[in-house]
Amino acid sequence: MILRSQVAGCGAYLPERIITNCELAGRLDTSDEWIRQRTGIGERRVAAAGELTSDLAFRAAQRALASAGMNGNDLQAVCAGFIFALSVADNALRLGQARTALVIGAETFSRILDWEDRGTCVLFGDGAGALVLRSVSDPSPSGRFILSNHLHSDGRQYDILYVDGGPSSTRASGFLRMQGREVFRQAVQHLSEVIDEALRANDLTAADIDWLVPHQANSRIIDAMGRKLGLSADKIVMTIEEHANTSAASIPLALEAAVDDGRIKPGHLVLMEALGGGLSWGASLVRW
Ligand code: ACO
Repeated sequence: MILRSQVAGCGAYLPERIITNCELAGRLDTSDEWIRQRTGIGERRVAAAGELTSDLAFRAAQRALASAGMNGNDLQAVCAGFIFALSVADNALRLGQARTALVIGAETFSRILDWEDRGTCVLFGDGAGALVLRSVSDPSPSGRFILSNHLHSDGRQYDILYVDGGPSSTRASGFLRMQGREVFRQAVQHLSEVIDEALRANDLTAADIDWLVPHQANSRIIDAMGRKLGLSADKIVMTIEEHANTSAASIPLALEAAVDDGRIKPGHLVLMEALGGGLSWGASLVRW
């Protein structure tokens, strides 16, 4: 019997507090124009005092389970990078180790940002998103399931994007540190390669893609991926203007937005890609 993972539900949650670019410009040497032009970001959400990453994850998970018509009796939360978590869950379903899986991306980057560093604090926001997967047996080749996941990492690049501090240093929790230009360069190169890899592995071309749902790090990186695939802007799901970069939460938040407003429909071919600290990067192809 062949088992495959099908998306059964999708949900997301954003904290209530919005920080606009103009609010940041009131306390940092930056401007709405600079941030929009360099990144596409207009505002970001930040968790309330006492609102934990797990609270965001819980709310997104509740909504994903409700949309799948399931309850949480057999759920298992995962909080690594979303593509990596999706791949782990997909493997467990394909091997018959689980029948359903809840994959959550939840982040409160506002707590690891140096709010006086304009090079990083304008870029990130808090949020959570989740998918419910269920196993389907003996699907047809054109059936609705995860087609493939492609994961890569390169530890030699660890110091271009990391969080300093930690228990073995002087501070218990550190701040995000980033060499923005180098991350940008690496992102364009690696994401292009992994998109090619995902398409080739499935004997598909860019013309087959219905939706690109990229990690929402920077609108210029996303535009570069769209140009590479020859996809028009209306085939790319973008939430960066409203959410900023929510790290592992950004793909499920974008998926939920596009499912909720009816853009992504059952049977559509959805390509997701992301790059993050480590460096680590990957892509997933799903027939929704
Ligand atoms: N407001 C105004 N000016 C600023 C700001 C700001 N918020 N931040 C930096 N500047 C200034 C710099 O000081 C510099 O000034 P100078 O020319 O006088 O020296 C100028 O703007 C240009 O700075 P650069 O860093 O060269 O600008 P760049 O065009 O590279 O854009 C950015 C910076 C937006 C960070 C870009 O490099 C980028 O997006 N990189 C990718 C980052 C990324 O994707 N990170 C996340 C991936 S991983 C994850 O999501 C967990």
